[in-house]
Amino acid sequence: MTIGVSNLKGGVGKTTIAQNLAVCLAHLEYKVCIIDTDTNQNSMEWFDARSEDLPEIMVVSVTDKGLSKSVKKFSETNDFIIIDGTPSLTDIATRIILASDILLIPMLPSAHDFRTLKLFFARYEQALEFRDTIPAYFILNQYNDRVKLDREIHGLLAEQDAGLLKTTLKKRVVYKSAAVDGMGAYEYDDPKAKKEMFELTKEVLELVENITAQ
Ligand SMILES: Nc1ncnc2c1ncn2[C@@H]1O[C@H](COP(=O)(O)OP(=O)(O)OP(=O)(O)O)[C@@H](O)[C@H]1O
Ligand SMILES: [Mg+2]
Repeated sequence: MTIGVSNLKGGVGKTTIAQNLAVCLAHLEYKVCIIDTDTNQNSMEWFDARSEDLPEIMVVSVTDKGLSKSVKKFSETNDFIIIDGTPSLTDIATRIILASDILLIPMLPSAHDFRTLKLFFARYEQALEFRDTIPAYFILNQYNDRVKLDREIHGLLAEQDAGLLKTTLKKRVVYKSAAVDGMGAYEYDDPKAKKEMFELTKEVLELVENITAQ
């Protein structure tokens, strides 16, 4: 099962969500491989910082047209491939969409991010010429339901063709700190972050179950 985490906007939480999802899945004893498609190699660096005492997560870097081949290869030995997407406007964006069984589209609750979505959906439409359906779900990151604008963006996303995950992630320092230590929030000392990431993982696993049952 391949989960692509993609959005052509930079800094929306692609890497954070890819790594944290991988950590939760690894704690549930799934074998997980992150494919880092970003030339900045944030997930490769995260892997270098990760202690060998923590559940093992494979991280590989693929920034070229070898993506689909790599997904096939690493799927043979892993339950989940998680693609950490890149904001670069190159062919790899379409390749990520095509290689994914499920797409997660992280979004910040900002009007500007909402407008740049059309870049992503141009790629998505392009990919749909090669595949009938590609399930895609927005996930709101750094979301605060007490802020009116955040709730408005939530409402706008709920009206789009792509789905919207029930779980939202709050802005929490732990996401930054855990990343530096090669960890996920699930492995850190913030129970609320741990809970929301576990909720997110459960929701993604339900989607996976629905897809595999079809
Ligand atoms: N929920 C959150 N709370 C606090 N900080 C966060 C949260 N999500 C992401 N961040 C921080 O925001 C910054 C950008 O996040 P991240 O690197 O995951 O985005 P990205 O979409 O992968 O960016 P890029 O497009 O550059 O690859 C990072 O410093 C990350 O630690
Ligand atoms: Mg990133």
